[in-house]
Amino acid sequence: MRRFGWMFGCAAAVAVTILISSGANAQRSKKKLPYEARLWKYLNESKYRNWAPVPGESDDAYEGESPHGAYLKMYLNRKAAGNPNELPDGSILVKENYGKDKTTLMAVTVMFRSEGYNEAAGDWYWVKYNADGTVAKTGEDAGSKRIAGKFGKCIECHTDAKGNDFVFFNDED
Ligand code: HEC
Repeated sequence: MRRFGWMFGCAAAVAVTILISSGANAQRSKKKLPYEARLWKYLNESKYRNWAPVPGESDDAYEGESPHGAYLKMYLNRKAAGNPNELPDGSILVKENYGKDKTTLMAVTVMFRSEGYNEAAGDWYWVKYNADGTVAKTGEDAGSKRIAGKFGKCIECHTDAKGNDFVFFNDED
């Protein structure tokens, strides 16, 4: 009887532990969205469509080139717009990629500069969202990888930008 009581106590303790830890996990996952999801939320909450266009350019869609869609719109947050040549820590560049009809949003590509994030490549964080805010993925042949973070393909091509800042729009200046 005594032995049974001890076993029961143990099982109860284990059950309680599992309950507590799964509760904590549920709470944590509710609070802590993945980084890309939080950035998407932040961009929309800060109404990035009201941000500044590229200095000296209109805020209309302009004709783009591969791989960034037929028509593009750029938005710079205050840090970036205030100093488009230096693009200090905290700069965010949002590029909306539209289809040939100029109105169908195909993708949103974002560069976010965070000091110390990736010194080898201008400290930019890269991400490509689908129009619905989910993170885009590479094709199946390329392993269906999420396009976010220190993403090689983005970095490789942007290496060609002048001034070693991985950014094209400010190259004429
Ligand atoms: C094959 C080359 C190439 C690749 C790959 C590429 N880009 Fe670009 N990107 C460009 C060019 C060229 C421009 C500037 C011309 C324009 O605005 O269309 C540009 C512009 C941008 C801009 C506006 C800032 C700027 O540099 O003028 C952002 C933001 C951006 N790209 C994000 C990304 C992200 C994120 C990826 C990876 C998912 C990516 N790009 C992959 C060529 C590329």
